[in-house]
Amino acid sequence: MFGIIGLGAIGTLLAYFLNKAGHVPYVVTRTRRSKYVIKAWGLEEVVEVALVERLPPTVRYSLVAVKAYDTESALGVIAGIPVVFQNGIGGLELIKERLGVGLGAVVTYGAARAGDIVELRGLGEIILPEEAGDLADALRAGGASVKIVPDVEPYRWLKTAVNAAINPVTALLRAKNGVVLDNPYARALAEAAAREAGAVAERLGVRLPADPVEEALRVAAATRENYSSMLQDVLAGRRTEVDYINGAVVRRGREAGVEAPINYALWMAVKALEGYISDVQYRQRSEG
Ligand code: PAF
Repeated sequence: MFGIIGLGAIGTLLAYFLNKAGHVPYVVTRTRRSKYVIKAWGLEEVVEVALVERLPPTVRYSLVAVKAYDTESALGVIAGIPVVFQNGIGGLELIKERLGVGLGAVVTYGAARAGDIVELRGLGEIILPEEAGDLADALRAGGASVKIVPDVEPYRWLKTAVNAAINPVTALLRAKNGVVLDNPYARALAEAAAREAGAVAERLGVRLPADPVEEALRVAAATRENYSSMLQDVLAGRRTEVDYINGAVVRRGREAGVEAPINYALWMAVKALEGYISDVQYRQRSEG
């Protein structure tokens, strides 16, 4: 009944909750390992999945948990209703445009991959729309804290504002999320990025459920000791999701007639960092 595309930190967390509710989800993933392990609430557990090349037609919901920039690769393997668990803005829009159907979801659990083990760090919740009621029931039965809302869009934009504030600043400074509170310059940048994202959302007619600046600072405090997903990507030499976070704020802002100069500067700085890292890796490979 349930399929998952992408078995990174969030995909593994979703599989874990489904396992706890008695489901073994079908999974399409590029990360082929002999076993998938999650460390949650102090315990290490093996996550059971049925690996497939594409999700079978019996699947009712495809939980799309690939990085936003990999959405294109998920299109051909989706079955049933896609429910998109991604950071930022753009992945869900692409799925809806190509497949004519798609539901947004937001995850506020902190989960990170350390080597081959996914670690659940801190409490959070999964926000789902009413149309994903059966999925919500299954995740809840597996121990997840799930909130059902009539419209996920305001929560997706609020999370994007939080990511636009914390992720690039921590990635550029190579610091834990707490830097956004402790360093006044970092804090000013993060606050401005969140404020701009909020202004874009407002212009698009999305009413955020909380003040974006206050929410960014609240999340930074709650995840003070975490390395943001963008910093983890930078440290691992992977592409980041900045195009779908700060880049999306700038793009959607321009379409709606709102400038977002701080998001633009942060987007450019992270793109420069991505390019610099791949340059260094290229030189190291050709020298070694
Ligand atoms: O992307 C992330 O790292 C997380 O969404 C957040 C909330 C910034 C915490 O690290």
